[in-house]
Amino acid sequence: MQPANPANPANPANPANRTDPTGPTDPTDPTDPAPGPRLAEPPAGPATDLSLSRIARARSVIPACFLDTPQYEDELLNTALGRRVTVKLETGNPIRSFKGRGVALALADLPAGSTVVCASSGNFGQAVAYLGRDLGLTVVVYAPAPLNPSKCARMVAFGAEVIEVAGPDAHPAAAAAAAASGAALLVDGVPPAIAEGAGTIAEELARAGRFDAVVVPVGDGSLITGVAAWLRAHAPDTRIVGVNPAAAPTMFRALAAGEPVTTTPASAFAEGITVTRARPESLARVRALVDEIVLVTEAELRSAMGLVARHLSVLAEPAGAAGIAAIAAGKVAGDRLATLVTGANPNPGGPG
Ligand SMILES: Cc1ncc(COP(=O)(O)O)c(C=O)c1O
Repeated sequence: MQPANPANPANPANPANRTDPTGPTDPTDPTDPAPGPRLAEPPAGPATDLSLSRIARARSVIPACFLDTPQYEDELLNTALGRRVTVKLETGNPIRSFKGRGVALALADLPAGSTVVCASSGNFGQAVAYLGRDLGLTVVVYAPAPLNPSKCARMVAFGAEVIEVAGPDAHPAAAAAAAASGAALLVDGVPPAIAEGAGTIAEELARAGRFDAVVVPVGDGSLITGVAAWLRAHAPDTRIVGVNPAAAPTMFRALAAGEPVTTTPASAFAEGITVTRARPESLARVRALVDEIVLVTEAELRSAMGLVARHLSVLAEPAGAAGIAAIAAGKVAGDRLATLVTGANPNPGGPG
């Protein structure tokens, strides 16, 4: 069962469903370099709070190691998948995931010496720790147990304090700690900047041509909404398909219900995309920008990890292989597809 997004059939004729392709969504910003012609009167308003001009500007604050990542077709992977699939590898950087892009933009304006608190199973936390260190920030990460020891070790190596909390959702503990200490709380899926930084991926992908669909793993939704915001404006015919684990179909259910729904994950195998509740801000963007969300099983994720290892020589974590899993399982239509390998921090001691 893969219902299309009821709120957004991605109908280009419907301006309410479009991010404004004519310019910024931040008209108060005098430095805004509008990429296209400005309208005398701004349009009725973009459907989301994501800004194309901020996506463009994000490249100037994202460290080079996260940008212009490899993207190519592998002949044997194409054969295995039965169509042409451009794969973008977001794994060859100091945190082994795409998360540095959005976090770099989100942290850019925090003054040195600040403390930032977040909740993360490890990839978002690694990005906050790695970039926060460069900015002179103190970083505290609340992580749901059981924590992937490899992700934990790397967050600590980047100077973060990591606090493991019981249960699948570390957000309440992070929010309480930030409120008590006055530290900044960074919640994935909430500030537009995290999605806008990830949106730089779409501009890079588009250099490889046009796609019938772009397939993106979905956890909190920052990645897919940033990518979708750019693609809706520049490649409106491309379908944007999200992938949730069947064991934690949180955004899938929220999209169907039209409101956040609390999910109890049956497994955290794909920990990077295992969340318990969609943030309303992220769900609103998903409803406006994403065509549909499909589900992949643990067996499909395992099989996709094997394909990625065999054909791309990348040790993907389960969440990182979710896009390939959806394509390999025949859950995405189209002859010319693109997807990302989003993370390569598998759990050395666990199933992933
Ligand atoms: C490896 C991996 N892939 C995909 C995602 C999904 O990104 P988002 O939470 O922005 O939806 C995450 C999130 O942390 C991740 O760690």
